[in-house]
Amino acid sequence: MSSSGKVALVTGATSGIGRATAILLAERGAHVLVTGRDVERGNAVVERIRAAGGTADFLHAELGDADSARALVEEALGLAGRIDILVNNAAIAVFGPTAAIAESDFDACYAVNVKVPFFLVGAVAPAMAERGYGVIVNVSTMVAGFGSRGSAVYASSKAALELLTKSWAAEFGPHGVRVNAVAPGPTVTEGTTAHYGSERLEALAAQAPARRVAHPTEIAETIAFLVSDGASFIHGAILPADGGRTAV
Ligand SMILES: NC(=O)c1ccc[n+]([C@@H]2O[C@H](COP(=O)([O-])OP(=O)(O)OC[C@H]3O[C@@H](n4cnc5c(N)ncnc54)[C@H](OP(=O)(O)O)[C@@H]3O)[C@@H](O)[C@H]2O)c1
Repeated sequence: MSSSGKVALVTGATSGIGRATAILLAERGAHVLVTGRDVERGNAVVERIRAAGGTADFLHAELGDADSARALVEEALGLAGRIDILVNNAAIAVFGPTAAIAESDFDACYAVNVKVPFFLVGAVAPAMAERGYGVIVNVSTMVAGFGSRGSAVYASSKAALELLTKSWAAEFGPHGVRVNAVAPGPTVTEGTTAHYGSERLEALAAQAPARRVAHPTEIAETIAFLVSDGASFIHGAILPADGGRTAV
């Protein structure tokens, strides 16, 4: 499971699943580029990694369009020289009845969840392909795989990310770049606690065989597996980490 000597860029690493992933990849030897909007929480993640003997840097980024994605990659390359691992984790959730969704919320959701990963991969994957090595993991959601009331915008944005995952596996896989996705179920994070509430999250989780919410480290472990050489023959997969919700 070692990521020793690899450079990993993790978006949305100031919180929840992204932070747990950054910490785990650093424990496994990667130099982690922690990125997000909140400077204080970003620096705290970096300090935690360094205190445990790992290496990390914080890159502040407000992601929302192609330019912001390209600027982040440029900054990352200036600092670390290359990117071996990209985790497209940053996302925003927009929930509500279709007729009540504001156009600006629809656009923001698709910008952060679809457009930004698209242009990050466009800026990162060709150099990985040239070197013949790279790993990309996209963070989707279990609700990308089935219809659920109130999730149309968020779920469809992640369904787009899942097809992008397969498209990129076809495009970059022949050049040594593995592209996969993880589809988490309900997970306790700052995001879900603030916008969803623990009661609703637990009620959602109760429908799955595991009958509980996930801890972010459980999703991070799944991402770290997909990053690792243990997953060397896995290309274009959407791996559920949802307590079995989509299996039953
Ligand atoms: N938690 C769940 O139950 C669950 C379930 C299924 C899928 N997921 C997926 O898992 C991923 C992480 O979820 P989470 O619950 O850990 O999220 P979270 O706690 O809400 O954290 C979101 C992260 O994304 C960053 N971010 C959001 N918008 C950004 C923007 N415009 N520019 C740059 N960074 C931005 C945030 O940065 P700042 O905080 O610095 O602003 C933060 O680091 C997401 O892709 C989500 O869709 C989560």
